[in-house]
Amino acid sequence: MREPFWIYQRRFVDRKVPLPIAKVYIYFLLVGLDYLHSECRVVHSDLKLGNILVSFENEKVLTNFIKRQQQMQYKVDRESGRTIYRCHNDFGPLDVQGIKNMIPKIADFGVATIFDRPDTQDGMVGEQLGVYPIQPDFYRAPEVILGCGWDFKADIWNFGVLLWNILGNKELFQQVYDADGKYDAKGHLAEMIALLGPPPKALLEKSKAMSKYNWPQPVRNATGKLCNNAQEFFGGPFFNADEFCYNGSIPSRSLDDTAPFLEEKDREGFLSFVREMLNWLPEKRKTARELMDHRFLKLE
Ligand SMILES: *[C@@H]1O[C@H](CO)[C@@H](O)[C@H](O)[C@H]1NC(C)=O
Ligand SMILES: *[C@@H]1O[C@H](CO)[C@@H](O)[C@H](O)[C@H]1NC(C)=O
Repeated sequence: MREPFWIYQRRFVDRKVPLPIAKVYIYFLLVGLDYLHSECRVVHSDLKLGNILVSFENEKVLTNFIKRQQQMQYKVDRESGRTIYRCHNDFGPLDVQGIKNMIPKIADFGVATIFDRPDTQDGMVGEQLGVYPIQPDFYRAPEVILGCGWDFKADIWNFGVLLWNILGNKELFQQVYDADGKYDAKGHLAEMIALLGPPPKALLEKSKAMSKYNWPQPVRNATGKLCNNAQEFFGGPFFNADEFCYNGSIPSRSLDDTAPFLEEKDREGFLSFVREMLNWLPEKRKTARELMDHRFLKLE
């Protein structure tokens, strides 16, 4: 693969891939996600721009690179006699002619979970639900923070939030860290409430019921505290009955105003598309296969 998506983005004006191309990429990524979920029964759980790699535009880039590399700086390790070249993550300017060959692919399955066993696994409850904390901070799904148990739909939330990075080169959520740079679950939830309205009762009830159970193994959180369940891990509880305990942290933002990077004619379709992914309830989110048919991805 040539490079991660965040390097690829830099090659475009304002670091943004033009919308028609971005739509094709989103479609390809959904094909990949559907394959992972339906065929492989894998929850990726770490979707971010660094884990989306773009393929080479043509083979010459690599052969030319090797030729250049042979004339490049190197040193010889005294003990082993081995030649050591400078490390690179950038293969230079794009051959624009070949851009249609550049396909984004989902990479890095280091923290992926396979849900293919009929029996209950360690750390999984009921049929097939993960319970340990997952996902990069910005893209963490509400059921993960609230300790409700998660499945494939956590990837759908993650992918929905990532669309702001893919299309607008910006983060949707802006208060996921506190002043000390630590993950701040209450600030993150407050922002979800601002964008989506309060969470449904069913989710809060599940969260409360699950908070009574401990994980098979305790896990240390970012503060270094050894925690027995999600509520401890993320510093909950966050709700008292159905009332959010930190409603002073709810910013005055609305989802409709989060996509200024799109022209008005595209914005409505985009918001309809992301609302199929950013639902509090995992079971209400569309599958990757269903999302592939959304009108936002249709090219005029
Ligand atoms: C870690 O757990 C402690 C105890 O539950 C909690 O107070 C703290 O907020 C947690 N830290 C993070 C970064 O979530
Ligand atoms: C915040 O919570 C308090 C107490 O429950 C309530 O009186 C107040 O109206 C709430 N504010 C908002 C903005 O929801």
